[in-house]
Amino acid sequence: MTDQPATSAVERRNLADADLTRAVETSFETTPDPRLREVMQALVRHLHAFASEVELTEDEWFAAIDFLTRTGHKCDDKRQEFVLASDVLGLSMLVIGINHRHPSGATESTVFGPFFVEGSPAFENGDDLANGAPGIPCHVHGMVRSVDGEPVPGARIEIWQADEDGLYDVQYAELDEPRGRGHLHADDEGRYSFWTVQPEAYPIPVDGPVGELLEATRRSPMRPAHIHFMVTAPGYQTLITHVFDEADEYLDTDAVFGVRSSLLTTFDRHDGGTAPGGRTMSGPWSSTEFDLVIAPD
Ligand code: BEZ
Ligand code: FE
Repeated sequence: MTDQPATSAVERRNLADADLTRAVETSFETTPDPRLREVMQALVRHLHAFASEVELTEDEWFAAIDFLTRTGHKCDDKRQEFVLASDVLGLSMLVIGINHRHPSGATESTVFGPFFVEGSPAFENGDDLANGAPGIPCHVHGMVRSVDGEPVPGARIEIWQADEDGLYDVQYAELDEPRGRGHLHADDEGRYSFWTVQPEAYPIPVDGPVGELLEATRRSPMRPAHIHFMVTAPGYQTLITHVFDEADEYLDTDAVFGVRSSLLTTFDRHDGGTAPGGRTMSGPWSSTEFDLVIAPD
């Protein structure tokens, strides 16, 4: 006979409701890793409480299994439907909130989203990372600072965003080069600047099970206009965030609950004239300033 771990003393026959929950919880008592034990036991308690509360029917349970199966089938190296599901359920923002209780004044974090791509092109401060993306030219600048107010020279800043049609470069089947994305480094005084296009609001991908869920529940798929930033520097926590256009109509209905008031910025509108870097503008353009504040490790 092989050695069996000591399992529960709780009887596993004829169990219903609370006794069943208790037996399943107890079955995890053998888990050597205490954190895994805690997480699994709490998960069982909450899943059982949920099914009991709504008196889940068998059809509903099968529908849920089908939803999860189709969510998995929708995933590939370019599409993560489970992350999208987590985003629209507010779970992503809840986990971010739990794990990023930054001390004193660091820029708040928000969802990563599915459109980050490794290996973005490198730019110098002042460059234009639009690379032909359609939209009104937009100049963005600011400082990277530590929570103590000191500049962080050399901090690496990754930027990615949608164009005026609300599309990321990776959503164009025929496009094989980056547009509206890149990375640069803060200068010796911690300053950064770049040109891009004015971001516009867009719907999250709705051609999968998550889209069906939003449709069935009459929820908006829209995200307010934003630019994504990821800031890294040795000795500092990675900051993953966005800046949002404070004039956007979808700020209070963001499909993924990612808006923080501290992340709103004004995009000033201009028409022609001379723009930063001595650029002569013949039409409309915009500009904004946003400081990125990072917390030590
Ligand atoms: C985004 O901002 O890119 C995004 C975030 C969550 C879900 C879908 C898109
Ligand atoms: Fe986005």
